[in-house]
Amino acid sequence: MDLTEKHIVIAGGSTGIGFEIARQAQLKGAHVTLMGRSAEKLTNAEKKLPLRASYVQCDIGDAESAKEGFKQVGPFDYFISTAADLTYAPLAEMETGAIDRMLAGKFWGPVNLVKYGLKNIKEGGSVVLFSGLAADRPAPGTSMVSALNAGVEGLVRALAVELAPIRFNGISPGVVDTEGWAFMPEQDRKGFFASLETSLPARKVGAPADLADATLFTLVNPYLTGEILHVNGGGNLV
Ligand SMILES: NC(=O)c1ccc[n+]([C@@H]2O[C@H](COP(=O)([O-])OP(=O)(O)OC[C@H]3O[C@@H](n4cnc5c(N)ncnc54)[C@H](OP(=O)(O)O)[C@@H]3O)[C@@H](O)[C@H]2O)c1
Repeated sequence: MDLTEKHIVIAGGSTGIGFEIARQAQLKGAHVTLMGRSAEKLTNAEKKLPLRASYVQCDIGDAESAKEGFKQVGPFDYFISTAADLTYAPLAEMETGAIDRMLAGKFWGPVNLVKYGLKNIKEGGSVVLFSGLAADRPAPGTSMVSALNAGVEGLVRALAVELAPIRFNGISPGVVDTEGWAFMPEQDRKGFFASLETSLPARKVGAPADLADATLFTLVNPYLTGEILHVNGGGNLV
């Protein structure tokens, strides 16, 4: 895959899956712009990437911040959002602030992309949004995560029709070993991952590289739109 002269914007690209997508895209020739709320995370990410990247500090879930952010980004070929700030807890116990932060990345982010970002997408461009396994396989404590992931998938299908010929696709990861699991005490996390390594059909926890590979394929394939690619080691089968 040759991404020379392609400009790829990644909201959430300063850590985890988004960062690995940025790394792989650069190695295939793309220029990459990272978007995120924390300037520190963005500068650290830029230093770790193999080549120079641009970055724009903004909250994609905040209309004014996103509008300004997309102005700074300028024209682009592809947009990916891995932006998420998730809390796992029973809905009745969740604080409004936590719910708002979840909505910002996964719901308002895509809305602001459509309202303020897409006027700058080039012909032939496409968008990949991230949902997740909880959309199909909810567990206690995941109701908001499940609802938002299912919402992302609905939006992908509707926007693929509404905004054609811009292509919209979704990636639904299973458990992937990223900073997103930092909220879990290390021992618990190791135990959780070990249990998945025996129960999942793929016998492994996802690596960011597994998701980056699938995302870049989804981004450039000209005949793929309105689709949700499940990259979860068979997590929806067990
Ligand atoms: N890792 C998994 O096991 C897993 C499983 C299922 C689904 N997923 C989905 O896959 C995607 C990537 O997951 P990940 O584990 O790589 O995430 P991650 O490492 O936690 O990274 C999330 C990124 O989103 C940015 N972000 C959060 N809210 C934002 C906002 N409002 N505006 C702009 N940037 C924002 C964060 O940076 P700042 O804090 O600096 O803003 C961070 O760079 C997410 O959509 C997640 O729900 C992941």
